[in-house]
Parts: sequence; C-alpha cells; structure tokens
Amino acid sequence: METERQKVGHRPGINDGDNMLPTYRTEPSADDAVDAWLASHGQDEGAPAIAGDTSRPEFYSQARWEPLFRQMREAAPLNRVEGTAYGDYWNICSHSLIMEVEGKPDLFSSSWKYGGITIADPAPGEEFQLPMFIAMDEPEHSAQRKTVAPAFTPAHIAELAVKLRAHTATVLDSLPVGSRFDWVEKVSIELATSMLATILGFPWEDRHLLTFWSDWAGHMEAARIPELFQVRREMLTEMATYFHLLWEQRRASPEGTDLLGMMIRSDSMSEMGPMEFIGNLALLIVGGNDTSRTSMSAAILGLDRFPDERAKLVADESLLPNAVQEIIRWHTPIAHMRRTATADCELAGQRIAAGDKLALWYISANRDEAVFPDADRLDLSRANARRHLSFGHGIHRCVGARLAELQLRILLEELMKRRLQVNVVGELRRVHANFVNGFRQMEVELTSY
Ligand code: HEM
Repeated sequence: METERQKVGHRPGINDGDNMLPTYRTEPSADDAVDAWLASHGQDEGAPAIAGDTSRPEFYSQARWEPLFRQMREAAPLNRVEGTAYGDYWNICSHSLIMEVEGKPDLFSSSWKYGGITIADPAPGEEFQLPMFIAMDEPEHSAQRKTVAPAFTPAHIAELAVKLRAHTATVLDSLPVGSRFDWVEKVSIELATSMLATILGFPWEDRHLLTFWSDWAGHMEAARIPELFQVRREMLTEMATYFHLLWEQRRASPEGTDLLGMMIRSDSMSEMGPMEFIGNLALLIVGGNDTSRTSMSAAILGLDRFPDERAKLVADESLLPNAVQEIIRWHTPIAHMRRTATADCELAGQRIAAGDKLALWYISANRDEAVFPDADRLDLSRANARRHLSFGHGIHRCVGARLAELQLRILLEELMKRRLQVNVVGELRRVHANFVNGFRQMEVELTSY
C-alpha cells in the first residue's frame, strides 16, 4: 500500500549511491498544521487565562504584546508566572536584566540537560534532542562554535556579498510592478533560504526543504500540541536523514569553500560524530532562516508604517547601516530565548531556585524606554540602535548576525537602486507562536519613485 510519505514524497538533490533515495514530505507546513488543529479545537485550547501569561501565541499573531510588556517593565521587570500551557517560568523583561542573565552562562544554562533554549520543555522521554551548540554550555559550546566561525569572518562575508547581491537583483527584477503579491513568499522566504543554501553549499534544487523543516523546528505551538508533536518529530527525523546522507556525500568529497566543506575539513569535525554534524547543520538552518526572513519583511512593514523615515533614507543613503540596526531593534525576530538556573541564586532581589525556567523577552528589551527613548517609533537615525538585543548577548550571541545584516542591507540597497517603493496594501498575517515573531503573509504593491 502506498504510504502518505510516498504520495507526497520528494527526492533530494543528493545521491546516496544506491538508487534507494528516501523521500521527504513537503506538506503540510507547520503553520497550516497548527491552523488546522486550532480550527478543530478552538483557539484557547491548552491556554488558560492567566495574568502575565506571556506565552499565549495570540499576543504575537495579533501584535498585542506591547502593552503587556510595557506594564511588566514598569511594575515588575522580573516576575513569575505559573500554570501556563508552557508551565511555570520567570518573565525577564528589561534590557539590563537580560544582559545580566546572559552574562552568567554558568548560572543560567542553555543546555538541553536543563531544558534547552525555549520555554517549551522537552517532553518526558523525548529523545529527539539534536546536539547543537546553541543548547550547550562551556566548554563544549565554544569548541563547536569555532567550527562554523570561519564562515562568518569579514573576508568570507565579503565574498558572499557578491553572490547575495546577484540573487537579490534577480529576485527583485522578477517582481511585478503595480500588482499585488505576497512579499513574504516571493522575497523574504526566497532570499533567506537561498542565502543559507549559498553559505552552506546546500543542494540548490532542494533549498525549499530548508524553509519547510526550519518552520517545523521553530514552531512552538507545533511542539506544544501533543498531536502535532509527533508529526513534528517525524518531519525532523526526515530532515536528520537528509543531513546524514549529505554528511556522507560531502565527507567523500570534502572540497569547496562553503561552510559544509569547512566543517567537514576542520580539526574539531574529526572529533564530531554524525549526530553533532546534523545538529549543528539544523541549528544553522533554523537559526538563520525564519529570523532573516522576518527581518526582511519587518523592514518593509517599518518603512511603510513610518513614511517620514523612509523619505529620510531615500534622501540620505548613508543612513543605511544604522537603518539596518534600527529595523532589527524595532521588530524583534526571536521573541524570547530560555535559560535555566543551575543553582539557587538571587536576581533583582528575588530568589530563583535551581531548575527554574527564565524567559528572556528580547521583544520587550528592545522597547525598553530606559535604553531606547520613544522605543515604539522606528527612528533610522537612533544613536544607540545597535544596542538592541535581537541577536542576544554574551557567549551565545548570534554567530550569523553579520550575514543577516548584510542580506538586509543588500535588499534595501537594491530596492533603492531600482527606485522601488514597497507599499503594504492588503493582508498582513503573523505567525501564531511565542518564539519566532514572524510574518506568514504580507500583501504589497510596488511603485516607482
Ligand atoms: C535577523 C536575523 C537573526 C536573528 C534575529 C538571530 C537571532 C539569534 C539569537 C537571539 C540567538 C541566541 C542568542 C542567545 O542565546 O543568547 C542566535 C544564535 C545563533 N544564530 Fe542567529 N539570528 C539571526 C540570523 C542568523 C543567521 C543568518 C545564522 C546562520 C546562518 C544564525 C545562526 C545562529 C547560530 C549558529 C546561533 C548559536 C550561537 C551560539 O550558541 O553560540 N543566525 N541568533
């Protein structure tokens, strides 16, 4: 009997050498699966009304998070919430407290051992925890981070810029002027995914799989809802199978200046097993995909909502580097990261117990008026925009930050070169989850100026 997997199967662009290539599902997307579940179970299932419950996905899908966090920053920037769909945890809402927690990685762990990096706890008996350095503490974290660092040096990034610019130009030149289209699908997803495929040396014809898998991996509601949890695990197992084949193929011919080649040839790689390779590859595609995609949509939304700022940028392109920082501050692509206390301690005068879960709400820190006056406003000449916490802080600060900034900068430069203005004219749908603060759809129309 034909299985579901075979029906929707997809053959990868890699060769395992024996003509027995596995197949991979390419649908439903994580967003569609969550939508279908919510349609049959109701929006509030599993999410009781609790004061201070920052985990509720509708705060983010309906962009209603601002007043709640403002209140918390004013009244109690460190507060505890209990009984949410994601369990009990501390909300950390101010810029300074997040810096403090991230500055003490021994006391506030990122490791799977204590629960990992999001407020979704691993399920009891959950074995699908890929080893990846974002969810490791020292010394393992630094040893593995070194493996990918060479791909993000300024020299390497400058080389990549040429390729990214060429692909950005092709995508922009293919867009219709004067009719509606979805910016997320046509531009943000395409550019984020192709940027990752380029840096990694991932099979180009399969790059859409990166989008599909990273959406499943990063969707907190898919991880929380028990029926979808199992589907998610299957999708991620298929991803791991693909990466394993890729690992074997690239080990057989490890040449190439791409990141996969670098990782395979590196000294630390010789000590890394296939699971660690797979985990770190998954980290790069999940870490770099939804996030960069979100910032490329946020840029369009921000410039549309603040036309005076757009006019300033068009009149003075030297604002561009700071504009990139400010866009990434104004719209925080990752709403939170999690840490877990490894010992009893005190933070801002409160007792934190060993094992307590802490949610670092970057989305709130980036609107902290103590650091960013008039924080809800997009101000492209904001003097301290680069103090945003969208990339985190400390030893885990985003390794791909320069690359993400570069892609965003190239996109804005190429739009201005073509004298194109992107107007948000229709449907704007956001991701229904508390981790990736992203967009599902943004209907736009291009006009020339
Ligand atoms: C606007 C785009 C991006 C945003 C907002 C973002 C955000 C983040 C955040 C919040 C962290 C965690 C920091 C922490 O725990 O303290 C992180 C880590 C990481 N990001 Fe990004 N990221 C972006 C783009 C990228 C790209 C393009 C890549 C790779 C191609 C990437 C790869 C990683 C990796 C590997 C880590 C783990 C670093 C570590 O644990 O040492 N990110 N990123």
